[in-house]
Amino acid sequence: MHAPLPEIMPLRVGIAGLGTVGAAVAGILNRQANQLAARCGRPIRVTAVSARDRNRDRGIDLAGYRWFDDPVALASDPEIDCFVELVGGSDGPARRAVETALAAGKHVVTANKALLAAHGLALSELAERTGAALAFEASSAGGIPVVKTLREALAGNNVSKLYGILNGTCNYILSRMETEGLTFDDCLKDAQRLGYAEADPTFDVEGFDTAHKLAILTSLAFGTKIDAEAIHVEGISSITPFDLRMADDLGFRIKLLGVAERTKTGIEQRVHPTMVAKTSAIAQVMGVTNAVTIDADAVGELTLVGPGAGGGPTASAVIADIADVARGTVGLPFGLPVSRLEQPVRSAMQRHEGGYYIRLAVADRPGAAAAIVTRMAEAGISLESIVQRRSEAAAARDPEGRSGAPVPVVLITYATTERALRDALAKVSADGHISENPQVIRIERE
Ligand code: NDP
Ligand code: HSE
Repeated sequence: MHAPLPEIMPLRVGIAGLGTVGAAVAGILNRQANQLAARCGRPIRVTAVSARDRNRDRGIDLAGYRWFDDPVALASDPEIDCFVELVGGSDGPARRAVETALAAGKHVVTANKALLAAHGLALSELAERTGAALAFEASSAGGIPVVKTLREALAGNNVSKLYGILNGTCNYILSRMETEGLTFDDCLKDAQRLGYAEADPTFDVEGFDTAHKLAILTSLAFGTKIDAEAIHVEGISSITPFDLRMADDLGFRIKLLGVAERTKTGIEQRVHPTMVAKTSAIAQVMGVTNAVTIDADAVGELTLVGPGAGGGPTASAVIADIADVARGTVGLPFGLPVSRLEQPVRSAMQRHEGGYYIRLAVADRPGAAAAIVTRMAEAGISLESIVQRRSEAAAARDPEGRSGAPVPVVLITYATTERALRDALAKVSADGHISENPQVIRIERE
C-alpha cells in the first residue's frame, strides 16, 4: 500500500479588472489550465474577480468565479493567494487594493506602470516586509520579457544605456500616419478600438505612459531608485503630416523613444519624438510593436522586439508572473532590497547633446531666413541643411506665394547642446521672424 500523495494546493487567484487585459488573462488561464499546472507543478485557479459592471459581456464565462464590486474587498479576501491588479491608475482603487493585498502577505501581479512609477518603491518595501511577491512584467513593453531580462538575465552586466519604443499606441499612430496618410485622430481611434490605448489616451500620446515604463526600466537597469519626476517628457500630438513627409525626404522616420543613459554628469532620462535614420534597426519597428535596446558591458548590445500592447501579449506577460508565483520563484521586485537601490544623480536635459530638426513658420519677407541662420551661428550651432518648403495644401491655395503667409523652414543641425539650441530659438522668436512656437525634434544617430 502506498501512502496517499500529499494534496497539491492550487494557487488561488483573484483578478481585479476584466477589461482588455483582465479578460484575456482569465481566458488564457482557463484554456491553458492543464499545461500551466504541469509547468508550475500545481494548478492555478481563478476563484474570484472584480470589475465595475457585473452584466457586461466580456467573452468569458464568469459563472464559476465569486464576484466583488470592490477590488479592495477582493484584495483582502482570505480565499485568494495571489491578487492580479488589472484596473489601472496610479492611485484610487488600484493602489488601495495592491496595498491591501501586500499588507496581508498576498502575492501581487500587476500591469500597472502608472502605479509603479509613482509608488513602486513604497510598494516594494511593503512586499519586502510581508514576504509577498510584487511582479510586474506586463508593466513595460507589453509582451516583451524586458523586466525579467534586466533583473535576471543581465545580472552580471553593468548597463550604460537603455532606449526604445515603449508605447504601442504611439508607434501604431506614427506608422499609420506615415505609411497610409491617415489622420492622427483616426489612428488613435483605431488604437483605442484594438485595446492598445490607456483608459485616458492622453497618457499615451503625451508621452507619460512611455515615461512610466522608462522610470521602471531605468531603476532595473541601473540599480537606482525610481525617479519618474526627473524624466523630460514630450509626446507625439504636435507631430504633423508635414513633419513626417520632411522626415521621409531627409532619410528619417519619427519614433517616440524613451532613453535612459549614464552620462558623465548623471543619469539622463528622456521621452520625446525622435528622428531615426530610415535604415536603422529601430526605424523598421512599425505598428504596435515595441523594441528595447540595452547596452551592457558583458553582453554588448541586446535588442528585444515584440508586441507592445493588446490583450493577448499583455496577458502573456501577466501569466508568466502568475506562473512564477505558483512555482515560488519570484525574487525582489527591483532585484535589490529598496534600501540598497542607489539615489540617482540626475543629468539635466539642458546638457543633452545631439542633432536637431527644427521647423519654423517664418514670415515670408526678405532677410528673415538669413537672420535666423545668423542667430544659429552666433550660438555656435552648425547647420547640416536648411529647407524652405510650403505644404502641398498651401502651394495649391497660393501657387505664386503672394499671400505673405508664413513659410515652413526646416533646419537640421549638427550636434549641439539643448541649452544652446533653446537660447538661439528664444532669440529667433524675440526677433519677430516666426509666427508659431518652433517644432523641435531631436535626432538620434546610431
Ligand atoms: P480596461 O480599461 O480595458 O479595463 C479596466 C478594467 O478595470 C475594467 O474591467 C473595469 O471594469 C475595471 N475597473 C475600472 N475601475 C474600476 C473600479 N473602480 N472598480 C472595479 N473595477 C474597475 O484597461 P486595460 O485592460 O487596457 O488595462 C488594465 C491595466 O493594464 C492598466 O494598468 C494598463 O495600463 C495596463 N496595461 C494595458 C495594456 C493594454 O494593451 N491594454 C498593456 C500593458 C499594460 P468594467 O469593465 O466593468 O468597466
Ligand atoms: N497603452 C499602452 C501602449 C499599453 O500603447 O503601449 C501597453 O503598455
